[in-house]
Amino acid sequence: MSKSNNKTLILYFSLTGTTKEAAEYIKKETGADMLRLEPEKPYGDYDSAARRGDRERRNNIHPALKTNIPNLNKYQIILIGYPTWWQRPPMLIETLFDKYDFKGKTVIPFTTSMSTPIGPSEKYIRRMAQNDGATFKNGIRYDNNKREVRSWLNNLGLLK
Ligand SMILES: Cc1cc2nc3c(=O)[nH]c(=O)nc-3n(C[C@H](O)[C@H](O)[C@H](O)COP(=O)(O)O)c2cc1C
Repeated sequence: MSKSNNKTLILYFSLTGTTKEAAEYIKKETGADMLRLEPEKPYGDYDSAARRGDRERRNNIHPALKTNIPNLNKYQIILIGYPTWWQRPPMLIETLFDKYDFKGKTVIPFTTSMSTPIGPSEKYIRRMAQNDGATFKNGIRYDNNKREVRSWLNNLGLLK
């Protein structure tokens, strides 16, 4: 196992399970620890999530995050997974950066989406990471192309 792996943490949010699958695959290939991000108030079904998500992004609302990250100090590399919502990360990811300081760490995003590439949403992660004083590295849009994901992880030195 590469020595960075016990210092890597996967954080992900998933409404309908696709990003969860991506996170689980990345966990399997890296051996990293993993934590699911949950809002204080669940998003509910797809329609209510879409309505609420839309309101949050239009009004720059950062919804409360229920999840606590134990021992964040221990981790050097933070992989952040999320579904792309309206070309950007869900606002819960903004809350993650409000609540935690990633200074000195390396932040790397991954996303799932119907079709939007990672480019538009990763700009937000780059901004939040850099505002924290973290190093940002380019992420990937997971679309079940396991070979591509393995190659990305390999380039990052994260394959176990
Ligand atoms: C509120 C909302 C907004 C979305 N916006 C986009 C979008 O801008 N571009 C896109 O390709 N897919 C969009 N999608 C589709 C999701 O990104 C896609 O289904 C994702 O894989 C879901 O991940 P999850 O199962 O982990 O929640 C959106 C879905 C929802 C619910």
